[in-house]
Amino acid sequence: MARALTLLSLSSLLSSLATAASNSTFDYDVLQYVDSLIGSANGGNVFPGASLPYGMAKAVADTNSESNQGGFTLDGSNITGFSTLHDSGTGGSPSLGNFALFPYASCENDEIDGCKYPKLERPVSFDESSVKSSPGYFGVSLSSGVDVDMTTSQHASLFRFNFTSGNSSASPLLLMDLTDLSDSRQDNATIDVDESTGRMTGSGVFLPSFGSGKYQAFFCTDFKSSADIRDNGIFVNTRATSEAKSLKISLGINGYPLPGGAWVRFKPEADASVLARVGVSFISEAQACSNAESEIPDFDFDATHSAAVSLWQEKLSPIRVSREGINDTILTNFYSGIYRTMINPQNYTGENPLWKSSEPYFDSFYCIWDLFRSQLPFITLVDPTTVTQIIRSLVDTQKHLGWLPDCRMSLCKGYTQGGSNADNVIADAYVKGLDGGIDWEAAYAAVQKDAEEEPYDWSNEGRGGLQSWKSLNYIPVQDLDYVGFGTMTRSVSRTLEYSYNDYAIAQIASGMNKTDDAEKYAKTSAYWQNIFKKDQKAYLNGTDTGFTGFFQPKYLNQTWGYQDPLECSNLDTSGSICSLQNTAGETFESSIFEYQFFVPHDMATLITFLGGASSFVKRLDYMHDKEITYIGNEPAFLTVYQYHYAGRPGKSASRAHYYIPEYFSPTAAGLPGNDDSGTMGAFVAMSMIGLFPNPAQNVYFIIPPFFPSVQYTSPLTSKTSTIKTINFDASYENIYIQSATLDGKPYTKNWIDYSFFTDGQELVLTLGRNESTWGTHDADLPPSVSTQGVDQPSK
Ligand SMILES: *[C@@H]1O[C@H](CO)[C@@H](O)[C@H](O)[C@H]1NC(C)=O
Ligand SMILES: *[C@@H]1O[C@H](CO)[C@@H](O)[C@H](O)[C@H]1NC(C)=O
Ligand SMILES: *[C@@H]1O[C@H](CO)[C@@H](O)[C@H](O)[C@H]1NC(C)=O
Ligand SMILES: *[C@@H]1O[C@H](CO)[C@@H](O)[C@H](O)[C@H]1NC(C)=O
Ligand SMILES: *[C@@H]1O[C@H](CO)[C@@H](O)[C@H](O)[C@H]1NC(C)=O
Ligand SMILES: *[C@@H]1O[C@H](CO)[C@@H](O)[C@H](O)[C@H]1NC(C)=O
Ligand SMILES: *[C@@H]1O[C@H](CO)[C@@H](O)[C@H](O)[C@H]1NC(C)=O
Ligand SMILES: *[C@@H]1O[C@H](CO)[C@@H](O)[C@H](O)[C@H]1NC(C)=O
Ligand SMILES: *[C@@H]1O[C@H](CO)[C@@H](O)[C@H](O)[C@H]1NC(C)=O
Ligand SMILES: *[C@@H]1O[C@H](CO)[C@@H](O)[C@H](O)[C@H]1NC(C)=O
Ligand SMILES: *[C@@H]1O[C@H](CO)[C@@H](O)[C@H](O)[C@H]1NC(C)=O
Repeated sequence: MARALTLLSLSSLLSSLATAASNSTFDYDVLQYVDSLIGSANGGNVFPGASLPYGMAKAVADTNSESNQGGFTLDGSNITGFSTLHDSGTGGSPSLGNFALFPYASCENDEIDGCKYPKLERPVSFDESSVKSSPGYFGVSLSSGVDVDMTTSQHASLFRFNFTSGNSSASPLLLMDLTDLSDSRQDNATIDVDESTGRMTGSGVFLPSFGSGKYQAFFCTDFKSSADIRDNGIFVNTRATSEAKSLKISLGINGYPLPGGAWVRFKPEADASVLARVGVSFISEAQACSNAESEIPDFDFDATHSAAVSLWQEKLSPIRVSREGINDTILTNFYSGIYRTMINPQNYTGENPLWKSSEPYFDSFYCIWDLFRSQLPFITLVDPTTVTQIIRSLVDTQKHLGWLPDCRMSLCKGYTQGGSNADNVIADAYVKGLDGGIDWEAAYAAVQKDAEEEPYDWSNEGRGGLQSWKSLNYIPVQDLDYVGFGTMTRSVSRTLEYSYNDYAIAQIASGMNKTDDAEKYAKTSAYWQNIFKKDQKAYLNGTDTGFTGFFQPKYLNQTWGYQDPLECSNLDTSGSICSLQNTAGETFESSIFEYQFFVPHDMATLITFLGGASSFVKRLDYMHDKEITYIGNEPAFLTVYQYHYAGRPGKSASRAHYYIPEYFSPTAAGLPGNDDSGTMGAFVAMSMIGLFPNPAQNVYFIIPPFFPSVQYTSPLTSKTSTIKTINFDASYENIYIQSATLDGKPYTKNWIDYSFFTDGQELVLTLGRNESTWGTHDADLPPSVSTQGVDQPSK
C-alpha cells in the first residue's frame, strides 16, 4: 500500500519535472484550475463527481432536482443517494444513476423499520459549502450528520461514509436501492446480501434516456467498516426484514417502480466510518465483483484517489497557457472546459454484452450531432489515441449492428437528430491522419452505407428519405417514404446535414483514391442548393430584416412549402415545437435563419448565394446582434467563426470574446445550456487557444488566444508547438491580428491546418486594437469545395 503511493507520487513528480524542463512559464499544476462543479445548475446537466477520463464508474450524490441528468445539482435540491453510473451534460431523461447507496446514522428507535427506504421519502438536505469536487473526487456533508466522500477506478467506486454524531449507541445503516435516476427499472431486478460479509450483488434492467431498447446493469458491493456488521437483509417498499437475504422484485404499478433493495446495519459505535466499494458491470455480477476486487483490492481510498489524479494530470498535460496577467476565472473556465471533454464517451471495452470482439468498445455518444462540432475535434488534439479507439469502436459497432450511431447510450441505439454525423467524425479523423489500427476500408464502407442504403428504422440510425434524395436531390417536406420509417420532420436541416455528410464521405474517398466516389459525393454535397429560395424574405416581429434568400421546405412536387425563417430561433416565444416530436418543424432545434449558415464545406458558394461578402457579414451580424442564435446550442458554434470566410477574421475574434466569458463562467450555473458531453467545454477550450476547428476538415480558424502564449505538445509526435502574441493585453482590447509569422515566415492565411499541431510549429501573432488587412484577401480564406475540391491540405 505504502509502496503503491510512493510509486504514484514519484511518477507525477517525474512528469512535472519533464514539463519544467521545457519552459517554466508552463510548469504549474493545472488541476488547481479545474472546477468540476461548473454546469451543475441551470441545466448544464454536467456530471460533477468522481471519474477517471472516459471512466465507466462515475460516483456522485444524486439529487431530486428536475434537472438531475448528471446526478448531482447545486440548485437547492436534496440528496436521494449515491450511485456509480452516470452520463454528463445530456438532455433527454436523466441517464443511469443505478443502484444508489443511502446512509442513516441510525434508525428511529433502533428499529429497522425506523429508517425510510423509498427514494421519495428519504431525500436529505446538505450544506452547499460542504461540497468538494475535483478530478477523481467528490465529497459532501449531509444534514443528517453523515460526511460522504468518494473516488473511482475504471469500473468501481469507493464511497466513504463518516458518521459524525458521536453517539456511541447509534447503529449506522446503509441501504442499496434497485432504482435509477429516471425510475425506468423493468421487471425482475434482483439483489442478494451475504449474511456474514454484507456483500450485495444483483442486477436490473433499465431503459436508455434518449434511445430505444433496454440494458442490464450488474453490481457488487462490499463493505469495510470500523464497526462490525450487526445484521442485514432486504426491503420492499417501506418495510425491511433481516429474515430474507434475497429479493427478486416486480416492476410495480402506477409508473413508479416498487422500491426495493437491501440493507446492512453496523454495531453501535461513536463516529463509525464505513467504506463501500461498488463494482459495476454490463456483463455479470461476477464481473462486477472482479472489477472491484482487481481495481480497488484493499479499499485504499488515498491510493485510488491519487491514481485518478495522476491520470487526469497526464490527460490534461498536452496544453499549457502562460498566465501573466490572466484572471483565475479565465484559467478556470479554460481548464475546466478541457476537463469536461474527457468524461464521455465512456470506455466500456470488456463490458459489451452485445457482441464478442477484440476491438475497443466506447459508449455514451450523447449525441454525435453535438460531439462532432467541437468535443471530438478537441480530443483529437489532446488525446488522439482515445479518438482512434473511439473510431475503431464506431466501426466495430457498425459491423455488428449494421449502422453507425448518431447517438448511443447505455448499450442502446439513441435517437438520430439529423444527419448521419458519425460520417463527419470519421472524416475528421481521416483528414487528420489518425491511424492506430483503424480499418479504413471498413470505415469507408460504413459511411458509404449511410449515404446509399436507407434503414428500416431511421429514427435510430442512418438517413431517411433516400429515395427522394436520390431522385429529387433534397429531402421533401411531407416526403413519401415507404422504405424506412422515422419522424417525418426536419426536411430542411436534414437536407443540409446530409449534404455535409456526403462531403465528409467525399474527402475520405478522395484520400483513398476512390476517385469516382469522391466526385459523386462532392456533387451530392451540393444538394443544399436545391432548397435555397432566392426570393424568400424574413420578418422579425413583422419588420423586414432586409435579407432576401433563405432555405425553405420543398414538397415532393417541387413546389415550395413555407417555414418562417425565425421559427425555432432563440427569439421564438410562440411555443413552436422544435425537437423530435411528430409535430415539429422542418429544422431541428434551431431556425432557418441559423441553418442558413450550415454549409461548412462550401462557404464560398453560400456567400455568393447570400449576396457577397459584405451582405453575408451583415446577415451574420444581424443574427448574433438580435440574438436569433443562442450559443447554448451547438449549431451556433460555427457561426461565431464563419466571418473568416468573408475575409473578416477580426469579427470572429470579437464574437468569441463576446460569448466568452459573457455566456460561460466558472460557476455552477455558468453554462448556457446542456454541456452535451463536453461540447460546450470544447467550444470554450478551442476558442481560448485561438484555433477553432471546422469539423471534418483540415481547417482551424485563427483568432488571438485568450492568453499571452499557448504551448501544445503532440501526444503523437512529442513535438511542441507554440502560439505567441505580441502586444497581448489581458483586458482583451487588442484582439485583432495585425500580422503573423509561422516558423519565422510571414503568414497571411486566416486559418491553419493540423500539421501545426503535429509538427511543432511556432505561430506568432502581432495584435492591435483595430481590424487590419491581415487574413482578409481571397488567398487568405479557408478552402471551400467549390473553389478547391475535396482534397485536404496535407502535411
Ligand atoms: C517560455 O515561453 C514563454 C512564452 O512562449 C517565453 O516568453 C519565454 O521566453 C520562455 N522561457 C524560456 C526559459 O524558454
Ligand atoms: C430539502 O430538505 C429540507 C429539509 O428536510 C426541506 O426543508 C426542503 O424543502 C427540501 N428541499 C427540496 C427541494 O426537496
Ligand atoms: C472521513 O474520514 C476520513 C478519515 O478520518 C477523512 O480523511 C475524510 O476526509 C472524511 N471524509 C469526509 C467527507 O469528511
Ligand atoms: C443515540 O442513539 C440511540 C440509538 O439510536 C438513540 O436512542 C439515542 O437517542 C441517541 N442519542 C442522542 C443523544 O441522540
Ligand atoms: C419475472 O419473474 C416472473 C416470476 O418468476 C416470471 O413469471 C416472469 O416471466 C419474469 N419476467 C421477466 C421479464 O423475466
Ligand atoms: C477576475 O474576474 C472576475 C470576474 O470578471 C472579477 O470579479 C475579479 O475581480 C477578477 N479578479 C481579478 C484579480 O482581477
Ligand atoms: C479502454 O479500456 C481498455 C480495457 O480496459 C483499455 O485497454 C484501453 O486502453 C482503454 N482506452 C483508453 C483510451 O483509455
Ligand atoms: C493514392 O494514390 C497516390 C498517388 O498514386 C498514392 O501516393 C497513394 O499512396 C494512394 N493512396 C492510397 C490510400 O491508396
Ligand atoms: C418582438 O416583440 C416583442 C413583443 O412586442 C418584444 O417583447 C420583443 O422584444 C421584440 N423582439 C425584437 C427582437 O425586437
Ligand atoms: C404541391 O404539393 C403541395 C403539398 O401537397 C400542394 O399544396 C400544392 O398544391 C402542390 N402544387 C402543385 C402545383 O401541384
Ligand atoms: C482604431 O480605430 C479607432 C476608431 O475605431 C480610431 O480612432 C483609432 O485611431 C484607430 N487606431 C489605429 C491605431 O489605427
